[in-house]
Amino acid sequence: MIGVLVSGGGTNLQALLDAGLPVVAVATNRRHAPALARASGIPTAAFELSDHPDRAARDAAMADWLEAQGARLVVLAGYMHLLTPAFLDRFPGAVVNVHPSLLPAFPGAHAVEEQLAAGVAESGATVHLVDEGIDSGEVLAQARVPVLPGDTPESLHERIKDVEHRLLPQVVSQLCAR
Ligand code: GRF
Repeated sequence: MIGVLVSGGGTNLQALLDAGLPVVAVATNRRHAPALARASGIPTAAFELSDHPDRAARDAAMADWLEAQGARLVVLAGYMHLLTPAFLDRFPGAVVNVHPSLLPAFPGAHAVEEQLAAGVAESGATVHLVDEGIDSGEVLAQARVPVLPGDTPESLHERIKDVEHRLLPQVVSQLCAR
C-alpha cells in the first residue's frame, strides 16, 4: 500500500500507476501541482505549509492522512520539500525518493543544471531511502545516463526521467514484496 508525495508534473507518479503498483493516496505540498490530475480515482490531499503552524505540524498532518488511507510505504516522486522527523518517524525505513543524479554526487534541487555546468560525461538516476538531509539517505538503486553534446537542462532531464520511470517502479515493487 503506497502513498506518493508530489510537487510537480508527476511523470514518476504516472510510471508507478502504469506499473500497476498499489498507490492508495497522493499528497502534495502544492495545491495546484499538475501531478494531482494523474491520480484519477485515488484520494488526494494538499498540505501547504501556509495552512499549518510549522513544518512539523504540516508533516504530522500529512503522515496522519497517509496512514489513514492505508499507506505503509511512501514514495517521493518529485516532492520538493525536506521532510521532518514528524513525518519520517512514522514510516521508519519506508520512505524513498528518486533523484536525477548519481548520488552522492549532485544532491539538491538543481542537480541537472549543476551536472551540465560541471561538464560531467555521465549522469544518472538514484532511488534512495529518505532521511532528514538533502538526498543523503542510503542508496537503493542507480542507473547511468549519458550526457550528450549539445544537451540542455531540459534534454538531459528528459533522458534521466526516462530511466527514472523504469528504475523507480522496479525498486518500489521490490520493497512492496518484502
Ligand atoms: C524527477 O526528475 C525526480 O528525480 C526529481 O524531480 C523530478 C520529478 O519529476 N526529484 P515528475 O514530477 O515525476 O515528473
